[in-house]
Order: sequence, then structure tokens, then C-alpha cells
Amino acid sequence: MIDPKSRIDELVELLNRYNYEYYTLNQSSVDDATFDNLMEELILLEKKYPEFKHKVSPTNRVGGQVVDAFKKVTHKRQMLSLADVFNYDELYDFDRKVREALGTSSVEYMAELKIDGLAMSMDYVDGKLNYCATRGDGTVGEDVTTNVVTIKSIPLVINDSKPLEVRGEVYMPKASLKECNERNEQEGRPLFANCRNAAAGSIRNLDSSIAASRKLNAYWYYFVNASDFGIYKHSDALNYIEKLGFRTNKERRICNGIEEVIKYIDEYHVKRPQLDYDIDGIVIKVNDLKTYDQIGYTAKTPKWAIAYKFPPEEAKTKLLDITLTVGRTGKITPNAILSPVRVQGSLIQRATLHNEDFIAEKGLKIGDTVVIRKAGDIIPEVVLAIKEARNGQEIDFVMPNICPVCGEPLTKIDAMHFCTNDNCLARSVEKLIHYASRDAMDIEGMGEKVVEQFFNQGFLTDINSIYELKKYREEIIEIDGWSYKSIDNLIEAIEKSKSNSMEKVLFALGIKEVGQKMSKTLSRIYKSIDALSNATFEELTSIPDVGPVLANSIVEYFKNENNINTFEKLKIQGVNTKYLKEDSIDSENFFYNKKVVLTGTLVNYGRKEAGEILESLGAKVQGSVSKVTDVVIAGSEAGSKLDKAQKLGVRLMNEDEFISLIKKGEN
Ligand code: IVH
Repeated sequence: MIDPKSRIDELVELLNRYNYEYYTLNQSSVDDATFDNLMEELILLEKKYPEFKHKVSPTNRVGGQVVDAFKKVTHKRQMLSLADVFNYDELYDFDRKVREALGTSSVEYMAELKIDGLAMSMDYVDGKLNYCATRGDGTVGEDVTTNVVTIKSIPLVINDSKPLEVRGEVYMPKASLKECNERNEQEGRPLFANCRNAAAGSIRNLDSSIAASRKLNAYWYYFVNASDFGIYKHSDALNYIEKLGFRTNKERRICNGIEEVIKYIDEYHVKRPQLDYDIDGIVIKVNDLKTYDQIGYTAKTPKWAIAYKFPPEEAKTKLLDITLTVGRTGKITPNAILSPVRVQGSLIQRATLHNEDFIAEKGLKIGDTVVIRKAGDIIPEVVLAIKEARNGQEIDFVMPNICPVCGEPLTKIDAMHFCTNDNCLARSVEKLIHYASRDAMDIEGMGEKVVEQFFNQGFLTDINSIYELKKYREEIIEIDGWSYKSIDNLIEAIEKSKSNSMEKVLFALGIKEVGQKMSKTLSRIYKSIDALSNATFEELTSIPDVGPVLANSIVEYFKNENNINTFEKLKIQGVNTKYLKEDSIDSENFFYNKKVVLTGTLVNYGRKEAGEILESLGAKVQGSVSKVTDVVIAGSEAGSKLDKAQKLGVRLMNEDEFISLIKKGEN
């Protein structure tokens, strides 16, 4: 029998090393399956022997811990920002002041890329990660360790036991932003305007599974207490932390004198679009750390470093028209149709104008010359109209009060207009496209173009018509590009979709506010769409993450006669509407079918993790205590929920009892 403590130690060591090799060095020495198996083994051992779990265990990287608020951290040394310069004159001025302070004719600088993300400080004690903190006001930041450790390139342990602090930037690569926004769009959530907002939003989220899902990364560019290690050059400091396992940016360059810095800036101005992360300028630092005090500081910034900011990527063009699109929820979005213009390598012809208020705030008129910008290199936005360029021919935009597609009246909710007609053609097409899409019913071969084509031909009208498409087989064959083989493949894909599990069907129905993640949560809890359709507003709002708007949307959806008919017909057509994932739950276990509330802090599990364990045993985890609650599991510092449970006489359970009951379920 292997001693569990030694095995845990060994696994932590191995997994940390594999992570470093894969995420920092970009070379992997094990295959995914082996890695996953070792991780799985460690998770199980830590569950069984929590007393041996390392504070810096690689299992923390999976995410899932949810905190009520971030703890404040007072930085050991003030976290400074940088002064900005916007042109070469100002840069020469910076160089002159440094030279004057040092009494030299030329200075050795380090030029680095200015990564556009979120500044971070990481503190290590005894070779172990102690905390990761945001800058905050420079003196006090927030402890965001649970989120930052989900970034796999970050070392949890290092081979140096002296206290050490490094600073750097957590960022979202451009490709991750694209992926993240595609998902947001599909799930009806607002898009991130740029990589910086996306990184900050992920790191400031109280639920670490969000950061874990966002594919963030980090570069470390400043070794705060390098002198404690006998290091006196910034370039040596970066080489040293790189050896310790910190990811540093290789594009850095030592420059002799300011002219070499300018060459570097010119070079990276051109290379910028090809980088797979966003930069907003170049940082220039004096390389000799010993001179820093001599050069000095202002209250917020050092005088030995400066940020050269790139001009924003903007262009002027004509606003040719404003068109409206109708989404599947009926939301009307105005779009700018622009005279095509190239910004940072890509051709821009359209930009979203969000809503009527946005157009009014910017005072846009059709025919205006406008400034557009590629925010975060990804989403084009209209910045402003150049009013001086008007010739009197410009036309005011008037938001119509009827739907541009079906002519039915629009309603306004907050700043948004909605078409109220459930049978609006535009909404019908969008609903069909969504229903067949990959994350929904995943009907291969039924993309946007095919849906539009079949809709225009009258083969498709609503969701139910998808399952009757086979009756048009002989007519489809008449259409260019279709063969019997391709039609039969499509029909087969449609048939296959009938056996999808509930969460896919629920998401596919396109109920307002019910995104992919929520569909999964609701499916795990209700097990069938029939059961969900009978849920009351109160029942729904007692589920964590379900607010009143969402609960109301679900209740209203299942009250609507059209929706009821569609759903009943789907069942008759043979579409499965039950949750198929957890047939194996042992209904004998204590928590099966119990309504459980978690409160206070558990020692061995994060709140989210405990919730997931309970749900996997068939429990319904609720956010608040009521008469119908079966059990309240109370950790330390439990507050009002515990009081309420006592008042209502709900069964109380402490963490030990909870653990012993879930362990019983494992046997
Ligand atoms: S050095 C005291 N180096 O830019 C020196 N900062 O506008 C601290 N940044 O607060 C910063 N890339 O968040 C430094 N290579 C780099 C950087 C960098 C991005 C950020 C950082 C800083 C801000 C200043």
C-alpha cells in the first residue's frame, strides 16, 4: 500500500512540472490521457485525505471555488503605474531627463511590449505561491488567487525559498476573445469590447470556473525585489524569473540609447497585428536597477520607465445607411452600413449601433462622415460623427415603431426595441438557425444557408417542420447542389437529433435568458422539460443563479399556447425531452431528491464543489431556506440561513456529517 501522503506529494510535483513544460515551455512530455488520469487520482486522494492536500495543489487550477467577495491585500511595496508618452518628442524628453539625472550621455534601456490586460502582483513565500493580487489603488489590491491559479502557465511552486514578488499582466489572447464572444453572442450575453475588458471581467468574477473557462494567460515583466537576489540589471532579473518558471515575453530587447528604442517601436508598430495578444504600446525601462533611486519617483509612477502609447487604430469613413436586424428573441439591432475601409489589416463595412439611444448619444445621421475604431482589434465600433464635415444632405435616423420584417408593433424594454410577434418571419428563421446549431440540437448539414434556403422555399416554417422535412425529399433534389445522398445525410442527422439529452433541447428552444450553461443546470435539477414546464416562479428563484427575470421568462414561455403546442408536437415527433446524463444515480443515497441549502464556509469543499457533489447525488441545491427545504448544511460562520432553518425546524447538518454521507454514497 502506497503511503497516501507521499503519493499526493509525488503527484503534485509531477503535475506542476507537466503544467510548466506544457504551458510555459510549450513542450509536452505526457499525453492528455495520462495527465488527466494523474489529476483524477490526485483529486480523489485529496478528497479522501484532505489533511494532506497542498495549499498550492494543481487541483486548485480547475476552478469552481466561489467567493462572496475578494479579500483586500496591502501590497508589500506600492504597485506603481507608468507615465504615458504619445510621440517621439515626449520620448526624447524622457530620455533627456534620465540622462540628466544620471549625468551620462547615453542610457541602456530595456524595451518591452506593453501587454493590454490586467496588472497583477504575485507573492511567493518558502517557494510557494502565497497570493495573487490586483493593483487596486496601488496600495491595497484584491486577492484574486482562486482565479489567477486557473492560468496553467503560472507556477504554484518555485525552486527558490527566499520571499519573492513578481509583477506582470494577465491577458486574454485574441483568439480566446473571439471564442469567448462567439459564445456570448450565442447565449445572448453582451460582448466584451476588447481583450483587456475580457481579462479584467474574468479575473474579477467571484466564480473561478469563469476564469478557468476563459483561456487566459500571463506575462511577468517586473521582479520587484531582484536586489534581494543579488541582481542589479532588469534584463538579468527577467532571465532569472524565467529560469524559475515564470513566463516572460521574448520580444524584449536591450537598446543602447533612445535611437535604438525608436527602431524597436517602429518595428513592433508594424508587427502588432500579427501578435496573438493585444498590445497598446511599448514600455521602456532603464536597465540598471542600481540607478532607480537616483532617477527617482513621482507619487504614482517611476521616472526610470515610461509607456509609449500607440495611437488608437481609427479610420474615417461614410455612414451609408442604418439597417435593422431582428434576432431570434425579437430584439431589433440597428447596424451601421459603412463605406468599406481598412483598419489594422481588416476590411470594415458594418458595425453594430446597439440601440436607438446609442445613435442619439452619438448624434449620428445617415450620410455622416464617422470615425470608426477597431476596439481591441476585434469588434469595430463607431466612435463619433464629424459634424463639421456635414453638407446638409444628412438624414436623421428614426427608429420605426413597427417590425421591419413583419410590420407588427415594437415594444421598448429599457433601451432595446423588440418585435412582439412570435410568428415574425425574421424571428422564425433565426429560431430555426439556433435550433439546428452545434451547441443546440447539432444537426449537421443544417447551417444558416440551408435553413434560409428551405425557409424561403416553404419546406421549413417552424421547429416542428424540421422533423417533417423528409416529405420534401423529391422537391429538394430539384434544387441546385443537392443530391439524394446529401438529402439523406441531412434527414439522418435530423433523426439523430431526436435522441439528444434534455439540456440540448432546452437550449435549442431558445427561451429568453436560458443560455447553454443554464440549460445544463436546469436539466440536472428538473430531469425533464415536462417537469421544468410545471416549475413555479418561487421554485425557480430558489435555485442559485436563477434571478427573477430568468424565472419569469421560463414561466411565461410555458404559459404560451404556441410554445406548448410546439413542445407537445416535438414529443409526438419522437424528440427526447428528458435528461439522459445521470441514469446511474443511486436513488438509495441520503441526498437523492432532497432539497438542500448550503451555508457558511466548508473546510474541505468550495461551495460550488459541494453543490455539484450534491447535485450528482440527485439533490436539488437551493439558494434560500424555506418550508420545503429538507436539509441545511452549515459550515463555519453560517448566518441568517442557519437561523431561519432553526426557526423552521429544518434538519441541520455539519460538514463532518455531510462528508460521511457522501462517502457512504461512494461505497
Ligand atoms: S512595468 C513600475 N512592463 O502597463 C513598473 N508594465 O500603463 C510597472 N504593462 O501598470 C510596470 N506591459 O499594467 C510594465 N512590459 C510591461 C508592461 C506593463 C503592460 C501595464 C502594467 C502597468 C501599465 C502602465
